[in-house]
Amino acid sequence: MKYRSFGRTGLRVSELGFGCGSVGGLLVRGDWREMVHTVERAIELGVNYFDTASIYGDGTSESNLGAALQELGAEVLVGTKVRLSTSDMGHIRDAVLESVDASLKRLRLDCVDIIHLHNPISLHRDPDRNTVGLKDLEPVTQAFQFLQEQGKVKFYGINGLGETKALHNAVEATGAHSIQMCYNLLNPSAGQTVPQSFPFQDYSQLITQASKHGMGIIAIRVLAGGALSGTIQRHPNAAKTVSPIATSTEYAQDVTRAQMFRFLVEQGYTGNLVEAAIRFAISNSAVSTALVGFSELEQLEQAAEYVAKGPLSTTPLKQIEDIWHSLS
Ligand SMILES: NC(=O)c1ccc[n+]([C@@H]2O[C@H](COP(=O)([O-])OP(=O)(O)OC[C@H]3O[C@@H](n4cnc5c(N)ncnc54)[C@H](OP(=O)(O)O)[C@@H]3O)[C@@H](O)[C@H]2O)c1
Repeated sequence: MKYRSFGRTGLRVSELGFGCGSVGGLLVRGDWREMVHTVERAIELGVNYFDTASIYGDGTSESNLGAALQELGAEVLVGTKVRLSTSDMGHIRDAVLESVDASLKRLRLDCVDIIHLHNPISLHRDPDRNTVGLKDLEPVTQAFQFLQEQGKVKFYGINGLGETKALHNAVEATGAHSIQMCYNLLNPSAGQTVPQSFPFQDYSQLITQASKHGMGIIAIRVLAGGALSGTIQRHPNAAKTVSPIATSTEYAQDVTRAQMFRFLVEQGYTGNLVEAAIRFAISNSAVSTALVGFSELEQLEQAAEYVAKGPLSTTPLKQIEDIWHSLS
């Protein structure tokens, strides 16, 4: 496993990160022994960043991760998240502090390495989309800094989802150490230039921008929630339905679109589409860690094998770029 700098934090994170979310579902709906064994095997393979959130399985993911790490006596980097609800908006600071205390309890930790704000960010708060406005980031940041002083979190970050302009402003303004960014073959706009006709949200190189501000970059939805496997079937542990993020409106459309990249397999650049998607994510040197959501041990083994093959070479990357430029 190779390691990359995590922005200006001084942390070194594995190129492959362990997504403990509900989509892959292993840490939410999996069999306990398989969970522990997969976490153990991930550590053995060199994975050192585990990403969870208070809302994944309504706290189940944090509880399972905490219990597994305790059973294994393992010390790894753990990141979790705070999701503010509409009713929290009148007392943001207290809501953040309460949420982190509850997360630490579930995780059986005194301190988490990275705390992220989970809500998407818009210029103005929008309860219908559960976004926070730029003004809300001030009390969130104050709470995160207070938690740092208390020794309950080491670093803090934001979610790179929401309105592009607001996200660029947030990167400038918050002084955050970390950002989670949707970055995959279907929507690479956070790290690549896409044409004006591009069919999905254009994040306008947010990764590049955040990286310039010394932020660690966590790539999420590297497999577009599973659609980049090119098959519609889901693992029994996986979420039954997936809402795409910044790609098609329907998961099935993403699965169809994934076929555009089949040439990578046919021309022998990669063994399959999953390998193509994972190696594409780590081809961006500004990405610190590429998270993959796992449903089972085998998927972890495969991801580690693909990451070990390294970034894609220039020729396939150029062909991929041509595809984005042909879309409208
Ligand atoms: N900040 C945020 O708002 C946010 C949003 C989304 C995700 N995240 C983080 O990013 C992590 C990863 O995201 P995600 O789970 O949503 O999406 P993802 O990693 O893009 O996709 C996960 C899905 O990919 C499939 N998969 C994984 N390995 C595979 C393999 N080797 N072969 C075939 N299919 C494979 C699985 O589908 P099947 O189960 O159907 O096989 C799995 O459910 C999450 O766990 C979470 O930590 C953060």
